[in-house]
Amino acid sequence: MRVKSSDITPEKLYRQRRRMIGLGLASLALPLTSKLIASSDNGLDSNLDAMSAMPEIELTPTKLDIINTYNNYYEFGFGKSDPSEAKKTLITSPWSVEIGGAGADKPGIYDIADLHSEHDIENRLYRFRCVEAWSMVVPWNGIPLAKIIKAAQPNSKARYVRFQTLNDPKQMPNANWAGGPYIEGLTISEAVHPLTLLATGIYDKPLEQQTGAPIRLVVPWKYGFKYAKSIVRIDLVETMPQNTWWRQNDREYGFYANVNPKFDHPRWSQATERVIGSFGRQKTLLFNGYADEVAYLYPDLSDRRYFY
Ligand code: MTE
Repeated sequence: MRVKSSDITPEKLYRQRRRMIGLGLASLALPLTSKLIASSDNGLDSNLDAMSAMPEIELTPTKLDIINTYNNYYEFGFGKSDPSEAKKTLITSPWSVEIGGAGADKPGIYDIADLHSEHDIENRLYRFRCVEAWSMVVPWNGIPLAKIIKAAQPNSKARYVRFQTLNDPKQMPNANWAGGPYIEGLTISEAVHPLTLLATGIYDKPLEQQTGAPIRLVVPWKYGFKYAKSIVRIDLVETMPQNTWWRQNDREYGFYANVNPKFDHPRWSQATERVIGSFGRQKTLLFNGYADEVAYLYPDLSDRRYFY
């Protein structure tokens, strides 16, 4: 595959910037979560400040042209190259995200341009593991979801967060594949975890139609189907939302979908993963390598519910 010169510079840059969240964050995030649920006076700021103490970890980012051409976005077709080869029909500007639900004391409609000007855009180099047993390493740009949730002033009814993506047959050739909009969900503790991101770019370039423009979810310790693309609504809710893949096939896909090499998919092993853009496979890591940061969220690691 030919490498464009425009791809080389940012990749070098990202290798220099390879920073990930390290040890110690979990203990900071725990009191935050309980505070958040108990009252609207949450400790999100101190939690987010902890982001600056990130040790360096070696990860080789996947090339941009691979990230942008090997995709799952069924609203644009079922094949891996369908989303990037589809006509560019998605209107991504203007775009707004509505935030509401019974758990939000301050619901609102946010224009993407406003989100960009109100929040710093952060760089996060994360492992990305699909439930289909392939992986990449993606240098995301985005806003920690915790900041957006804080602005909505969560109350005691905010136990889960439900994400809804655009579903418009005029803009998406296969919009109806799931019989309605793509839905995803997180617990409130997962949603305000400092690793959880609303991504708006990759390699300092805006997301493309096929990668979920203009805004998508990124939860690096979970399988990629949790990463809802082209989000239009975020609701803070009391009950566990039923996500699209769970609704499609509850024997194979559930709500939590945390990466675990020891819990196989009913039809294939999850022990290893094919690294897209390189040769061969590598071992899959518990919570996709983020166990130190997130394992505390799941009290019983033998509970299968957490891992599909
Ligand atoms: N979001 C929507 N709206 N529709 C989809 O089909 N596919 C999911 C997720 N988000 C999907 C989606 C799946 S299965 C994966 S693995 C990732 O997006 C793929 O993200 P990528 O194409 O950027 O690699």
